[in-house]
Amino acid sequence: MNSFNRLAAIISLASIFPLNVYAADSKGTVEVVHWWTSGGEAKAVDVLKKLIEKDGYTWQDSAVAGGGGAAAMTVLKTRAVSGNPPSAAQIKGPDLQEWGALGLLSNLDKVSTENKWDTLLSKTVSDTMKYDGHYVAVPVNIHRVNWLWINPEVFKKAGIDKAPTTLDELYAAGDKLKAAGFIPLAHGGQPWQDSTVFENLVLSVMGPQGYKKALIDLDESALTGPQMADVFTQLKKLQGYMDPDGTGQDWNLEAAKVINGKAGMQIMGDWAKSEWSAAGKKAGTDYECVPFPGTKGSFTYNIDSLAMFKLAKKNDTPGNIAAQNDVAKVALEPEFQYVFNQNKGSIPVRNDLDMSKFDSCGQASAKDFDEAGKTGGQLPSMAHNMATSLAVQGAIFDTVSNFMSDKSADPASAGKKLYSAIKSAQ
Ligand code: BGC
Repeated sequence: MNSFNRLAAIISLASIFPLNVYAADSKGTVEVVHWWTSGGEAKAVDVLKKLIEKDGYTWQDSAVAGGGGAAAMTVLKTRAVSGNPPSAAQIKGPDLQEWGALGLLSNLDKVSTENKWDTLLSKTVSDTMKYDGHYVAVPVNIHRVNWLWINPEVFKKAGIDKAPTTLDELYAAGDKLKAAGFIPLAHGGQPWQDSTVFENLVLSVMGPQGYKKALIDLDESALTGPQMADVFTQLKKLQGYMDPDGTGQDWNLEAAKVINGKAGMQIMGDWAKSEWSAAGKKAGTDYECVPFPGTKGSFTYNIDSLAMFKLAKKNDTPGNIAAQNDVAKVALEPEFQYVFNQNKGSIPVRNDLDMSKFDSCGQASAKDFDEAGKTGGQLPSMAHNMATSLAVQGAIFDTVSNFMSDKSADPASAGKKLYSAIKSAQ
Protein backbone atom coordinates (compact mmCIF):
# COMPACT_ATOMS: atom_id res chain seq x y z
CA MET A 1 0.00 0.00 0.00
CA ASN A 2 1.55 3.37 -0.92
CA SER A 3 1.44 6.29 1.49
CA PHE A 4 -1.64 7.80 -0.11
CA ASN A 5 -3.66 4.57 0.07
CA ARG A 6 -2.70 4.27 3.71
CA LEU A 7 -3.74 7.89 4.17
CA ALA A 8 -7.07 7.21 2.45
CA ALA A 9 -7.80 4.31 4.79
CA ILE A 10 -7.10 6.37 7.89
CA ILE A 11 -9.04 9.37 6.61
CA SER A 12 -12.20 7.33 6.16
CA LEU A 13 -12.07 6.51 9.89
CA ALA A 14 -10.86 9.86 11.11
CA SER A 15 -13.48 11.89 9.28
CA ILE A 16 -16.04 10.51 11.72
CA PHE A 17 -14.40 12.69 14.38
CA PRO A 18 -14.05 16.16 12.89
CA LEU A 19 -12.54 18.89 15.06
CA ASN A 20 -13.41 22.54 15.02
CA VAL A 21 -10.56 25.04 15.08
CA TYR A 22 -12.40 27.96 13.53
CA ALA A 23 -13.23 31.07 15.44
CA ALA A 24 -16.90 31.92 15.19
CA ASP A 25 -17.13 35.17 13.31
CA SER A 26 -19.75 36.72 11.11
CA LYS A 27 -18.10 37.02 7.72
CA GLY A 28 -15.97 33.88 7.64
CA THR A 29 -12.48 32.58 8.22
CA VAL A 30 -9.99 31.03 5.88
CA GLU A 31 -7.14 29.01 7.31
CA VAL A 32 -4.17 28.64 4.98
CA VAL A 33 -1.36 26.09 5.34
CA HIS A 34 1.78 27.13 3.45
CA TRP A 35 5.55 27.17 3.81
CA TRP A 36 6.34 30.75 2.88
CA THR A 37 8.31 31.69 5.97
CA SER A 38 11.57 33.32 4.81
CA GLY A 39 11.69 37.12 5.05
CA GLY A 40 10.92 37.62 1.34
CA GLU A 41 8.30 34.87 1.18
CA ALA A 42 6.48 36.18 4.26
CA LYS A 43 6.35 39.62 2.68
CA ALA A 44 4.80 38.09 -0.44
CA VAL A 45 2.10 36.06 1.32
CA ASP A 46 1.22 39.06 3.44
CA VAL A 47 -0.11 40.67 0.26
CA LEU A 48 -2.80 38.00 0.02
CA LYS A 49 -3.62 38.17 3.72
CA LYS A 50 -4.16 41.95 3.52
CA LEU A 51 -6.43 41.68 0.48
CA ILE A 52 -8.56 38.98 2.12
CA GLU A 53 -8.83 41.03 5.30
CA LYS A 54 -9.79 44.06 3.22
CA ASP A 55 -12.72 41.99 1.94
CA GLY A 56 -13.80 41.47 5.55
CA TYR A 57 -12.66 37.88 6.11
CA THR A 58 -10.38 36.52 8.80
CA TRP A 59 -7.06 35.07 7.60
CA GLN A 60 -5.79 32.31 9.87
CA ASP A 61 -2.15 31.83 9.02
CA SER A 62 -0.85 28.27 9.44
CA ALA A 63 2.68 28.60 8.09
CA VAL A 64 4.94 25.57 8.54
CA ALA A 65 8.64 26.45 8.20
CA GLY A 66 10.80 24.32 5.92
CA GLY A 67 11.89 25.11 2.37
CA GLY A 68 10.46 22.90 -0.36
CA GLY A 69 7.45 22.11 1.83
CA ALA A 70 8.14 18.58 3.15
CA ALA A 71 7.30 19.61 6.75
CA ALA A 72 4.13 21.42 5.60
CA MET A 73 3.00 18.31 3.71
CA THR A 74 3.45 16.17 6.83
CA VAL A 75 1.35 18.60 8.86
CA LEU A 76 -1.28 18.64 6.13
CA LYS A 77 -1.55 14.85 6.04
CA THR A 78 -1.90 14.73 9.82
CA ARG A 79 -4.60 17.39 9.69
CA ALA A 80 -6.49 15.52 6.96
CA VAL A 81 -6.16 12.23 8.84
CA SER A 82 -7.69 13.76 11.96
CA GLY A 83 -10.66 15.02 9.96
CA ASN A 84 -9.57 18.60 10.43
CA PRO A 85 -8.26 19.93 7.11
CA PRO A 86 -7.48 23.63 6.70
CA SER A 87 -9.58 25.62 4.22
CA ALA A 88 -6.66 26.05 1.84
CA ALA A 89 -3.18 24.63 1.47
CA GLN A 90 -0.17 25.05 -0.76
CA ILE A 91 -0.32 21.86 -2.85
CA LYS A 92 1.29 21.51 -6.24
CA GLY A 93 1.52 19.51 -9.43
CA PRO A 94 0.61 15.81 -9.56
CA ASP A 95 0.00 15.85 -5.81
CA LEU A 96 -3.24 17.74 -6.54
CA GLN A 97 -4.45 14.64 -8.39
CA GLU A 98 -3.73 12.46 -5.37
CA TRP A 99 -5.63 14.73 -2.97
CA GLY A 100 -8.41 15.06 -5.55
CA ALA A 101 -8.70 11.27 -5.82
CA LEU A 102 -9.20 11.09 -2.05
CA GLY A 103 -12.29 13.28 -2.49
CA LEU A 104 -10.99 15.92 -0.09
CA LEU A 105 -10.81 18.96 -2.38
CA SER A 106 -13.59 21.45 -3.17
CA ASN A 107 -14.72 22.09 -6.67
CA LEU A 108 -13.95 25.66 -7.80
CA ASP A 109 -16.15 25.62 -10.92
CA LYS A 110 -18.26 28.62 -9.90
CA VAL A 111 -15.41 31.01 -9.14
CA SER A 112 -13.31 29.79 -12.08
CA THR A 113 -16.16 30.22 -14.58
CA GLU A 114 -17.23 33.62 -13.24
CA ASN A 115 -13.65 34.85 -13.44
CA LYS A 116 -12.80 33.18 -16.79
CA TRP A 117 -9.79 31.23 -15.56
CA ASP A 118 -9.67 29.12 -18.71
CA THR A 119 -8.96 32.20 -20.81
CA LEU A 120 -6.45 33.70 -18.35
CA LEU A 121 -4.23 30.65 -17.90
CA SER A 122 -2.05 28.67 -20.26
CA LYS A 123 -3.07 25.04 -20.78
CA THR A 124 0.05 23.77 -18.97
CA VAL A 125 -1.16 25.67 -15.91
CA SER A 126 -4.91 25.02 -16.09
CA ASP A 127 -4.48 21.27 -16.67
CA THR A 128 -2.37 21.03 -13.52
CA MET A 129 -5.05 22.82 -11.46
CA LYS A 130 -7.89 20.51 -12.49
CA TYR A 131 -8.89 17.17 -11.07
CA ASP A 132 -11.29 15.18 -13.21
CA GLY A 133 -11.90 18.25 -15.39
CA HIS A 134 -12.75 20.60 -12.49
CA TYR A 135 -10.57 23.26 -10.90
CA VAL A 136 -9.58 22.27 -7.36
CA ALA A 137 -6.78 24.80 -6.87
CA VAL A 138 -5.88 28.34 -7.82
CA PRO A 139 -2.39 28.95 -9.23
CA VAL A 140 -0.54 31.99 -7.91
CA ASN A 141 2.72 32.14 -9.83
CA ILE A 142 5.28 30.53 -12.08
CA HIS A 143 8.73 29.99 -10.59
CA ARG A 144 11.75 28.96 -12.63
CA VAL A 145 14.14 26.50 -11.03
CA ASN A 146 17.09 26.49 -13.47
CA TRP A 147 18.74 29.69 -12.30
CA LEU A 148 22.20 30.59 -11.03
CA TRP A 149 22.37 33.63 -8.72
CA ILE A 150 25.56 35.66 -8.75
CA ASN A 151 27.05 38.44 -6.65
CA PRO A 152 28.94 40.47 -9.32
CA GLU A 153 30.95 42.38 -6.72
CA VAL A 154 32.35 39.10 -5.38
CA PHE A 155 33.02 37.89 -8.93
CA LYS A 156 34.97 41.09 -9.59
CA LYS A 157 37.06 40.67 -6.45
CA ALA A 158 37.85 37.10 -7.51
CA GLY A 159 38.85 38.25 -11.01
CA ILE A 160 35.93 36.62 -12.85
CA ASP A 161 34.73 38.75 -15.74
CA LYS A 162 31.66 36.87 -16.94
CA ALA A 163 28.85 34.68 -15.74
CA PRO A 164 29.48 30.97 -16.44
CA THR A 165 27.49 29.45 -19.29
CA THR A 166 28.95 25.93 -19.21
CA LEU A 167 29.77 23.52 -16.40
CA ASP A 168 33.50 23.95 -17.11
CA GLU A 169 33.14 27.73 -16.75
CA LEU A 170 31.23 27.16 -13.54
CA TYR A 171 34.10 25.10 -12.10
CA ALA A 172 36.64 27.65 -13.32
CA ALA A 173 34.69 30.41 -11.53
CA GLY A 174 34.49 28.16 -8.46
CA ASP A 175 38.29 27.74 -8.46
CA LYS A 176 38.85 31.50 -8.64
CA LEU A 177 36.34 32.19 -5.87
CA LYS A 178 37.98 29.57 -3.67
CA ALA A 179 41.43 30.98 -4.33
CA ALA A 180 40.20 34.47 -3.41
CA GLY A 181 38.82 33.19 -0.08
CA PHE A 182 35.09 33.16 -0.90
CA ILE A 183 32.57 30.33 -0.59
CA PRO A 184 32.10 29.49 -4.29
CA LEU A 185 28.63 28.01 -3.99
CA ALA A 186 26.17 28.78 -1.20
CA HIS A 187 24.27 25.55 -0.62
CA GLY A 188 22.27 24.17 2.28
CA GLY A 189 22.61 20.40 2.61
CA GLN A 190 18.92 19.56 2.85
CA PRO A 191 17.49 16.84 0.58
CA TRP A 192 15.31 19.19 -1.49
CA GLN A 193 18.24 21.56 -2.05
CA ASP A 194 20.54 18.66 -3.04
CA SER A 195 17.93 17.51 -5.54
CA THR A 196 17.41 21.03 -6.87
CA VAL A 197 21.10 20.97 -7.86
CA PHE A 198 20.76 17.40 -9.14
CA GLU A 199 17.86 18.21 -11.47
CA ASN A 200 19.75 21.18 -12.86
CA LEU A 201 22.67 18.88 -13.64
CA VAL A 202 20.35 16.34 -15.29
CA LEU A 203 19.07 19.11 -17.56
CA SER A 204 22.56 20.47 -18.24
CA VAL A 205 24.16 17.09 -19.03
CA MET A 206 21.24 15.22 -20.63
CA GLY A 207 19.35 18.10 -22.28
CA PRO A 208 15.57 18.63 -22.23
CA GLN A 209 14.78 15.26 -23.85
CA GLY A 210 17.03 13.42 -21.42
CA TYR A 211 15.50 15.32 -18.48
CA LYS A 212 12.06 14.29 -19.65
CA LYS A 213 13.03 10.64 -20.06
CA ALA A 214 14.83 10.42 -16.73
CA LEU A 215 12.75 12.55 -14.38
CA ILE A 216 9.27 12.54 -15.91
CA ASP A 217 9.00 9.21 -17.76
CA LEU A 218 11.33 7.54 -15.20
CA ASP A 219 12.80 5.56 -18.08
CA GLU A 220 15.19 2.79 -17.03
CA SER A 221 17.81 3.34 -19.73
CA ALA A 222 17.93 7.10 -19.07
CA LEU A 223 18.20 6.56 -15.31
CA THR A 224 20.91 3.91 -15.48
CA GLY A 225 22.83 4.92 -18.62
CA PRO A 226 26.24 6.59 -19.09
CA GLN A 227 24.81 10.12 -19.14
CA MET A 228 23.35 9.61 -15.68
CA ALA A 229 26.76 8.39 -14.49
CA ASP A 230 28.13 11.68 -15.82
CA VAL A 231 25.44 13.62 -13.92
CA PHE A 232 26.58 11.99 -10.66
CA THR A 233 30.23 12.64 -11.55
CA GLN A 234 29.44 16.33 -12.04
CA LEU A 235 27.46 16.36 -8.80
CA LYS A 236 30.54 15.11 -6.89
CA LYS A 237 32.66 17.74 -8.60
CA LEU A 238 30.21 20.54 -7.82
CA GLN A 239 30.06 19.39 -4.21
CA GLY A 240 33.70 20.38 -3.88
CA TYR A 241 32.64 24.04 -4.31
CA MET A 242 29.73 24.00 -1.88
CA ASP A 243 29.64 25.84 1.43
CA PRO A 244 31.53 23.68 3.97
CA ASP A 245 29.17 25.01 6.68
CA GLY A 246 26.06 24.23 4.66
CA THR A 247 24.98 20.99 6.33
CA GLY A 248 21.28 21.24 7.13
CA GLN A 249 21.20 24.99 6.39
CA ASP A 250 18.04 26.72 5.19
CA TRP A 251 18.14 28.03 1.63
CA ASN A 252 17.50 31.62 2.69
CA LEU A 253 20.43 31.61 5.13
CA GLU A 254 22.61 30.41 2.25
CA ALA A 255 21.14 33.11 -0.03
CA ALA A 256 22.13 35.64 2.64
CA LYS A 257 25.77 34.56 2.25
CA VAL A 258 25.68 35.54 -1.43
CA ILE A 259 23.81 38.76 -0.63
CA ASN A 260 26.34 39.68 2.09
CA GLY A 261 29.33 38.99 -0.15
CA LYS A 262 30.61 35.88 1.63
CA ALA A 263 29.72 33.58 -1.26
CA GLY A 264 29.77 34.06 -5.03
CA MET A 265 26.86 31.98 -6.33
CA GLN A 266 23.77 29.97 -5.46
CA ILE A 267 21.88 27.41 -7.55
CA MET A 268 18.26 28.02 -6.62
CA GLY A 269 14.82 28.73 -8.04
CA ASP A 270 13.76 32.35 -8.27
CA TRP A 271 12.19 32.43 -4.81
CA ALA A 272 15.84 33.27 -4.01
CA LYS A 273 15.09 36.65 -5.57
CA SER A 274 12.59 37.33 -2.79
CA GLU A 275 15.53 37.51 -0.38
CA TRP A 276 17.49 39.89 -2.62
CA SER A 277 14.41 42.11 -3.01
CA ALA A 278 13.68 42.04 0.72
CA ALA A 279 17.30 43.15 1.31
CA GLY A 280 16.69 46.11 -1.02
CA LYS A 281 19.02 44.80 -3.78
CA LYS A 282 18.44 45.47 -7.47
CA ALA A 283 18.52 42.89 -10.26
CA GLY A 284 21.21 43.57 -12.87
CA THR A 285 23.28 45.78 -10.53
CA ASP A 286 23.53 44.18 -7.10
CA TYR A 287 22.96 40.68 -8.38
CA GLU A 288 22.70 38.71 -11.59
CA CYS A 289 20.38 35.87 -12.56
CA VAL A 290 21.52 33.61 -15.40
CA PRO A 291 20.22 30.24 -16.59
CA PHE A 292 22.00 27.38 -14.83
CA PRO A 293 25.05 26.62 -17.06
CA GLY A 294 24.12 24.44 -20.01
CA THR A 295 20.34 24.90 -19.63
CA LYS A 296 19.67 28.03 -21.69
CA GLY A 297 16.49 27.58 -23.74
CA SER A 298 14.87 25.31 -21.15
CA PHE A 299 12.64 26.40 -18.31
CA THR A 300 12.04 24.08 -15.36
CA TYR A 301 8.78 25.38 -14.00
CA ASN A 302 7.34 25.27 -10.52
CA ILE A 303 3.79 26.55 -10.15
CA ASP A 304 2.64 27.38 -6.64
CA SER A 305 -1.03 26.80 -6.07
CA LEU A 306 -3.54 26.88 -3.26
CA ALA A 307 -5.93 23.94 -3.13
CA MET A 308 -9.25 24.37 -1.36
CA PHE A 309 -10.44 21.65 1.01
CA LYS A 310 -13.97 20.47 1.71
CA LEU A 311 -14.48 21.83 5.18
CA ALA A 312 -15.01 19.67 8.25
CA LYS A 313 -18.70 19.63 9.17
CA LYS A 314 -18.49 22.15 12.01
CA ASN A 315 -16.55 24.65 9.88
CA ASP A 316 -18.74 24.19 6.83
CA THR A 317 -20.60 27.50 7.04
CA PRO A 318 -21.58 29.83 4.17
CA GLY A 319 -19.19 32.45 5.58
CA ASN A 320 -16.20 30.12 5.59
CA ILE A 321 -17.01 28.92 2.09
CA ALA A 322 -17.28 32.54 0.94
CA ALA A 323 -13.86 33.20 2.49
CA GLN A 324 -12.37 30.27 0.53
CA ASN A 325 -13.89 31.54 -2.69
CA ASP A 326 -12.54 35.00 -1.97
CA VAL A 327 -8.99 33.61 -1.76
CA ALA A 328 -9.50 31.77 -5.05
CA LYS A 329 -10.83 34.92 -6.74
CA VAL A 330 -8.32 37.42 -5.33
CA ALA A 331 -5.31 35.19 -6.06
CA LEU A 332 -5.77 35.60 -9.80
CA GLU A 333 -6.67 39.29 -9.83
CA PRO A 334 -4.07 41.67 -11.29
CA GLU A 335 -3.69 43.63 -8.06
CA PHE A 336 -2.45 40.50 -6.23
CA GLN A 337 -0.58 39.00 -9.17
CA TYR A 338 1.64 42.09 -9.61
CA VAL A 339 2.58 42.76 -6.00
CA PHE A 340 2.81 39.14 -4.85
CA ASN A 341 5.04 38.09 -7.73
CA GLN A 342 7.25 41.18 -7.48
CA ASN A 343 7.89 40.19 -3.86
CA LYS A 344 8.07 36.44 -4.44
CA GLY A 345 10.56 36.45 -7.35
CA SER A 346 8.20 34.55 -9.64
CA ILE A 347 6.24 35.72 -12.69
CA PRO A 348 2.47 36.13 -12.88
CA VAL A 349 0.53 33.06 -13.82
CA ARG A 350 -2.00 35.00 -15.91
CA ASN A 351 -0.88 35.67 -19.43
CA ASP A 352 -2.28 39.23 -19.86
CA LEU A 353 -0.19 41.32 -17.46
CA ASP A 354 2.35 44.05 -18.18
CA MET A 355 5.84 42.63 -17.60
CA SER A 356 7.45 46.08 -17.79
CA LYS A 357 6.41 46.38 -14.14
CA PHE A 358 8.96 43.64 -13.33
CA ASP A 359 12.75 43.78 -13.01
CA SER A 360 15.19 42.33 -15.55
CA CYS A 361 15.12 38.82 -13.98
CA GLY A 362 11.30 38.77 -14.06
CA GLN A 363 11.25 39.97 -17.66
CA ALA A 364 13.85 37.38 -18.71
CA SER A 365 11.87 34.67 -16.97
CA ALA A 366 8.61 35.57 -18.76
CA LYS A 367 10.36 35.72 -22.13
CA ASP A 368 12.20 32.44 -21.57
CA PHE A 369 8.99 30.73 -20.43
CA ASP A 370 7.23 31.70 -23.66
CA GLU A 371 10.17 30.73 -25.83
CA ALA A 372 10.66 27.40 -24.08
CA GLY A 373 6.94 26.74 -24.69
CA LYS A 374 7.56 26.86 -28.43
CA THR A 375 10.48 24.41 -28.42
CA GLY A 376 9.38 21.78 -25.91
CA GLY A 377 11.67 23.31 -23.30
CA GLN A 378 9.02 23.87 -20.60
CA LEU A 379 9.74 21.10 -18.10
CA PRO A 380 8.09 20.42 -14.74
CA SER A 381 10.53 20.56 -11.82
CA MET A 382 11.07 17.20 -10.12
CA ALA A 383 12.53 18.71 -6.95
CA HIS A 384 9.52 21.03 -6.56
CA ASN A 385 6.69 18.50 -6.77
CA MET A 386 5.76 19.15 -10.39
CA ALA A 387 6.99 16.02 -12.17
CA THR A 388 6.35 12.91 -10.08
CA SER A 389 4.36 11.65 -7.12
CA LEU A 390 5.74 12.65 -3.73
CA ALA A 391 6.67 8.99 -3.11
CA VAL A 392 8.89 8.87 -6.21
CA GLN A 393 10.28 12.31 -5.43
CA GLY A 394 11.16 11.06 -1.92
CA ALA A 395 13.04 8.10 -3.39
CA ILE A 396 15.06 10.45 -5.64
CA PHE A 397 15.78 12.83 -2.75
CA ASP A 398 17.07 9.97 -0.57
CA THR A 399 19.28 8.50 -3.28
CA VAL A 400 20.78 11.85 -4.26
CA SER A 401 21.44 13.00 -0.68
CA ASN A 402 22.87 9.59 0.32
CA PHE A 403 25.18 9.78 -2.68
CA MET A 404 26.31 13.24 -1.63
CA SER A 405 26.97 12.26 1.95
CA ASP A 406 28.94 9.11 1.05
CA LYS A 407 32.51 10.15 0.22
CA SER A 408 33.23 6.86 -1.54
CA ALA A 409 29.95 6.69 -3.51
CA ASP A 410 30.47 5.51 -7.07
CA PRO A 411 28.87 7.67 -9.80
CA ALA A 412 28.88 4.69 -12.18
CA SER A 413 26.45 2.67 -10.03
CA ALA A 414 24.38 5.58 -8.64
CA GLY A 415 21.91 5.47 -11.54
CA LYS A 416 21.06 1.81 -10.84
CA LYS A 417 20.43 2.65 -7.19
CA LEU A 418 18.24 5.55 -8.28
CA TYR A 419 16.22 3.36 -10.59
CA SER A 420 15.61 0.65 -8.01
CA ALA A 421 14.64 3.23 -5.33
CA ILE A 422 12.11 4.71 -7.77
CA LYS A 423 10.73 1.26 -8.61
CA SER A 424 10.12 0.41 -4.97
CA ALA A 425 8.38 3.75 -4.37
CA GLN A 426 5.95 3.25 -7.26
C1 BGC B 1 7.98 26.61 -3.50
C2 BGC B 1 8.29 28.07 -3.35
C3 BGC B 1 9.11 28.28 -2.10
C4 BGC B 1 10.33 27.38 -2.11
C5 BGC B 1 11.20 27.51 -0.89
C6 BGC B 1 9.24 25.80 -3.44
O1 BGC B 1 8.94 24.42 -3.54
O2 BGC B 1 7.33 26.37 -4.71
O3 BGC B 1 7.12 28.83 -3.31
O4 BGC B 1 9.46 29.63 -2.02
O5 BGC B 1 9.91 26.03 -2.22
O6 BGC B 1 10.52 27.16 0.24
